[in-house]
Amino acid sequence: MTIPIKNKEGIARMREACAIAATVLDKLKPLVRPGITTQDLEEAGRDWIARLGARSACYGYRGSNRPYPAHTCISVNEEVVHGIPSFRRVLHDGDVVSLDIVVWHNGYVGDNAFTMPVGAVDPTVLKLLRVTREALDLGIREAVVGNRIGDISATIQRYVEGHGFSVVRDMVGHGVGTSMHEPPEIPNFGRKGTGEKIKPGMTLAIEPMVNLGGHRTKILSDGWTCVTADGSPSAHFEHTVLTTENGPEILTVPLAQIPGSVS
Ligand code: MF3
Ligand code: CO
Repeated sequence: MTIPIKNKEGIARMREACAIAATVLDKLKPLVRPGITTQDLEEAGRDWIARLGARSACYGYRGSNRPYPAHTCISVNEEVVHGIPSFRRVLHDGDVVSLDIVVWHNGYVGDNAFTMPVGAVDPTVLKLLRVTREALDLGIREAVVGNRIGDISATIQRYVEGHGFSVVRDMVGHGVGTSMHEPPEIPNFGRKGTGEKIKPGMTLAIEPMVNLGGHRTKILSDGWTCVTADGSPSAHFEHTVLTTENGPEILTVPLAQIPGSVS
């Protein structure tokens, strides 16, 4: 499968969808504190997506299994990704929570995720968050025209494993555009110099998922929630990135941080 290249119009629409997704994520972050439920975050996310004139790309999404039942993915501690929000899931001091927001706007999809501490968190787990975030930054820097997808993958893997953590193998980053998942797959492991060549106009969701313990994961009986096999905590950071002749550009930037924007 060839990797879609976006034209000017497609890029403009990607910019908007991604800015909306990032704005929603930005609005949820300050709500995270001990005592809140993941359903509270879901409802705030659902309402912000609507207020910004977009639609959740997660709600009703069909993977290989049943339709996803919520507007956001909220994953706590050993949940890697695709945690289903619940009014029974209360956040406690010392937890970490990943917020993953994917929206449709004007025919294009923006995808981003962020993991944050809840109250006072164990220093090793804080380091897991920091290393995963840095791995995302380093991976994005490899999204350079002329490089290959494997350069992103290998860079993320080397950095993460160099800090004694492990990268998830069962889930990967992906192209994103007129649907949530487009070619190419962007694994967080691999070899430099392998995979497809990066060209201008690609929009890539780069998303390291990193475990404190082993890399293995399993899916819970709800058909969605991906958890670490050994129960260790996991972190997830994601940006949608545009490749250009002048280097990678992060598209998932909140509206408030875009010059000339009113929101
Ligand atoms: N960022 C996740 C991904 O790229 C979001 C999945 S939404 C769901 O796969 F609908 F699959 F839950
Ligand atoms: Co994604």
